[in-house]
Amino acid sequence: MAKIKTRWVCQSCAYESASYLGRCPDCGEFASFCEETILSASPLTAQNIVRSDDKIFAPSLINEIEVDETIRISTSFEEFDRVLGESPKRHGESPKRHGESPKRHGESPNRKGGGFVQGSLVLLAGDPGIGKSTLILQACKNICNNGKKTLYVCAEESVSQVKLRAQRLGVEAGNLYVTSQNCLEEVILQIEQLTPEFLVVDSIQAVYSSSITSSAGSVSQIRESANLLMKIAKQKNITTVVIGHVTKEGNIAGPKVLEHMVDCVINFEGDKYKTYRMLRSVKNRFGPTSEVGVFNMEDDGLKEITNPSEMFLREKDQSPTEGCTVIATIEGTRTLLLEVQALVGATPYPSPRRVARGVEYNRLLQILAVLEKRVGLNLSKQDVYINVIGGIDIIEPAADLGIAMAVLSCARSVVVDQHTVIIGEIGLSGEIRAVDNIEKRLREAEKLGFKTAVVPNVSDTVSKRLKDLNIKIVQVSRLVDAIPKCIGNKETVSSLS
Ligand code: TYD
Ligand code: MG
Repeated sequence: MAKIKTRWVCQSCAYESASYLGRCPDCGEFASFCEETILSASPLTAQNIVRSDDKIFAPSLINEIEVDETIRISTSFEEFDRVLGESPKRHGESPKRHGESPKRHGESPNRKGGGFVQGSLVLLAGDPGIGKSTLILQACKNICNNGKKTLYVCAEESVSQVKLRAQRLGVEAGNLYVTSQNCLEEVILQIEQLTPEFLVVDSIQAVYSSSITSSAGSVSQIRESANLLMKIAKQKNITTVVIGHVTKEGNIAGPKVLEHMVDCVINFEGDKYKTYRMLRSVKNRFGPTSEVGVFNMEDDGLKEITNPSEMFLREKDQSPTEGCTVIATIEGTRTLLLEVQALVGATPYPSPRRVARGVEYNRLLQILAVLEKRVGLNLSKQDVYINVIGGIDIIEPAADLGIAMAVLSCARSVVVDQHTVIIGEIGLSGEIRAVDNIEKRLREAEKLGFKTAVVPNVSDTVSKRLKDLNIKIVQVSRLVDAIPKCIGNKETVSSLS
């Protein structure tokens, strides 16, 4: 008879203990331990099925290992491929020559090499109902149409439910196999028979391995399942996507366990009450982690949004409004023009409130401190709320000046010209500091019809390159100088002191 072992496992972080603990010493969670029974490996377990091929365990000489990172499986979604990353340039491909005109957003940057790296394991995580299954089914269709045999394991839904969704999405792919299966050992047998090149497991929380007695979705099951899928992906060179639901706290269940195992973690985010969705890579062994892909959920599936600035600014109030400014921020390789809104009003609380959505809280405090000290704007009895439209978190300081002007505009009830884009980092002494990629930001602003740009001082070389732009460039070196340029009202400036 198989030898039975038990252990106590924290369901929050997978910490293991020989006995019950009231509080996890690793993650600090209370009452999170469950006893799990593990059967020692019998010859029929999935572990053995995977290990029967000993190729993966034999050491190889590093010089003899052949890796071709340039082989990528494209999803045919430019937005998805960019988030997954591009292959490095192959030998013989000439780098971009100096003096070549920069590629504008929306024109075709070379995305042909983007997509899933062959044999990689990718975790697609997101809230339930956000559209993960829809996105991956649409990607599967494109991958199949590119000639890759694909297996879609739906552990949550029946095959007919998947078929219904596929009909709605217009998925007709001859190479797409679907199976409704929860038991991972069965899945592995099907993989062995079918030998797909692309595999999707929807979702990791719904599959279980029979070598572990705890229920599907428990940390041990997730870890074991991901482990087996990782082995089979690497061993058989199958590109695998596992879908993971995010828990209420915003973590992928068993986050520490899953995140370190997989090659890429891609988050699919969005406001449930809005139709646009954002794809963001938070870990990527083969590409950048700063890229975002934007989609719109429509009746017949997700559609790419290749110019998100246009969409985010479409909702902007067309009449001039106090407290609203437009900033230009860089997300990965793309420039986004976003609206920043500020609301400043007398506080009913003993200490004033500062609320920041889309901007780092401490960054906001710093901007407010500089406004108080260097411009004389008294906010000690005012609540300040900041909101960046579009659900994007701005982490770069180039948005400082735009945020400061939004606060000032609302505090003094004056409007900022709606055709002005504001760019610049604010230093503690009230100076406006230079930002990277100014040319890229200005070209995007010009494209979207902005007439004026308030920017930090630019070098002569850059200024020569900006000559052809049909946008008035106003250079500022101090915060106080920027106020009349943005707000254009001298009384405002004098009323501050
Ligand atoms: P789904 O992909 O099932 O979400 P997840 O796998 O992340 O749980 O998407 C479910 C939501 O998407 C559901 O509210 C309906 C909506 N939806 C559309 O709006 N259009 C579509 O074409 C599809 C397939 C779904
Ligand atoms: Mg789903």
